[in-house]
Amino acid sequence: MKKSSKPGPLTAPLPAVMVSCGDMENSNIITIAWTGIINSHPPMTYISVMPRRQSHGIITENKEFVINLTTSALAKAMDFCGVKSGRDFDKFEHLGLTREAGDVVRAPMIAESPVNIECKVTEIKQFPSHDMFIAEIVAVHVDEKYVDENGAYDYGSMDLVSFSHGKYYRLRREETGFFGYSVMKPKTAKKRRAAKHKR
Ligand SMILES: Cc1cc2nc3c(=O)[nH]c(=O)nc-3n(C[C@H](O)[C@H](O)[C@H](O)COP(=O)(O)O)c2cc1C
Repeated sequence: MKKSSKPGPLTAPLPAVMVSCGDMENSNIITIAWTGIINSHPPMTYISVMPRRQSHGIITENKEFVINLTTSALAKAMDFCGVKSGRDFDKFEHLGLTREAGDVVRAPMIAESPVNIECKVTEIKQFPSHDMFIAEIVAVHVDEKYVDENGAYDYGSMDLVSFSHGKYYRLRREETGFFGYSVMKPKTAKKRRAAKHKR
């Protein structure tokens, strides 16, 4: 039996990312759960931000931001950036985080995050509670310790954090499958087992 309840944003798990904005001198970090991918080629994303957030004004003006993925080591800083406003704190300074210049946008990246995604806003859609900043992903940076010799990313080792209904959960290295494994040919399965055995 399931209990029906009033409609709400109950999808989970969600990312809880640290979005940096502004420039190298004046910057802010806002925690965002309302985010995702909306197109593959070109890669496009969105963040939905309430107009009263300080970051809303900064991103509206600069039309740029960086999505920084959150690890368990960054979880407390991520929570802080989600409950305190940049109006009262320089969050980089207060949290001892390092600003790192991106390749394309002026917004600083958070050096301590293993993945930084530089974004340029292309459109702003207004909704009753949030404004949706639709953006093109213009550059990505992945800590080289998570990139193997073939250029594949090892997200399983990053110890990323997800957000589900008010709580943060670690995404531990416990793979339950991979893209397309439900239709994998027995020959491919055998090859993968052999490769795993070798490691
Ligand atoms: C886990 C988590 C997720 C959040 N997601 C969003 C979001 O998607 N959109 C939003 O407007 N605020 C979100 N918030 C709230 C803002 O991060 C928070 O109000 C922040 O203090 C705003 O900072 P600013 O005023 O410096 O921009 C979230 C907070 C937390 C803790």
